Amino acid sequence: MHPRTWFPDRLVGRQVVLHRHVPANLSAFKRWYSDPQIARLTRYQDGPMHPSEIERFFAARVVGHDSLAMAVHLRTPGREPGRLIGSCAFSQLDGDNGSALYHITLGEKDTWGRGYGTEATELMLEHAFEVLGLHRIALSVFEFNERAVRSYLKVGFRLEGRARDAIWRDGRYWDEISMSILDSDWQRRHAPAERQTPAERQGPADRGERDSSRRASPEQVAAHVDR
Ligand SMILES: CC(C)(COP(=O)(O)OP(=O)(O)OC[C@H]1O[C@@H](n2cnc3c(N)ncnc32)[C@H](O)[C@@H]1OP(=O)(O)O)[C@@H](O)C(=O)NCCC(=O)NCCS
Repeated sequence: MHPRTWFPDRLVGRQVVLHRHVPANLSAFKRWYSDPQIARLTRYQDGPMHPSEIERFFAARVVGHDSLAMAVHLRTPGREPGRLIGSCAFSQLDGDNGSALYHITLGEKDTWGRGYGTEATELMLEHAFEVLGLHRIALSVFEFNERAVRSYLKVGFRLEGRARDAIWRDGRYWDEISMSILDSDWQRRHAPAERQTPAERQGPADRGERDSSRRASPEQVAAHVDR
């Protein structure tokens, strides 16, 4: 199976559409990731990425044949694709355990705070749980990134823990927050309430059973495991 079949050409939401990245998106990546404000929110290192680093990252993780990155575009009637505003991706896909890490960066700062990133994350989670059959999506976020934390909570991520004082930024230490969402969390949030029994409201994990029938095989997932 060709790895690209893991992601469709498009994932369509109400306000945004996720498309596969194309090589021409590199110029936007260079602009985004050389911005100190984006670096502050997304990078462990203090300071923006070097242009050559951005090129390597783009080639390997964004348009690489086994990458699971999607471009976030605004959904604009009559314009296809609409404005490119960011990127979101899964990494460290682990087929044995059905898990992956999630990342998102809206690089166009004027689009922050309008729900676009939150909707893009929902589209990615829907794909992960409903199509890829993954079990767990995790992420980490710096504690000062309140907008991101709130966005993740809105789509159903739960707080898992904190690495205390893991990040030095703006002259002080901050915690790094770990969050995750399980397929059972997702199903609970998206099942129509009237169709749920009290037991179902607790979710399959809590009932001691898991639906493994929808999970991708380790071989299928292996095609995407980060090396
Ligand atoms: C983080 C990100 C994906 C969130 O997507 P978004 O579409 O901008 O988020 P939303 O507009 O849905 O806002 C999410 C929540 O943050 C709140 N919010 C918006 N701006 C805020 C701000 N400046 N400070 C605190 N909270 C803010 C919103 O009100 C909303 O919460 P609410 O619905 O409970 O009121 C996006 O802003 C982004 O990519 N930022 C830059 C890169 C980044 O931080 N990436 C994440 C690294 S872990």
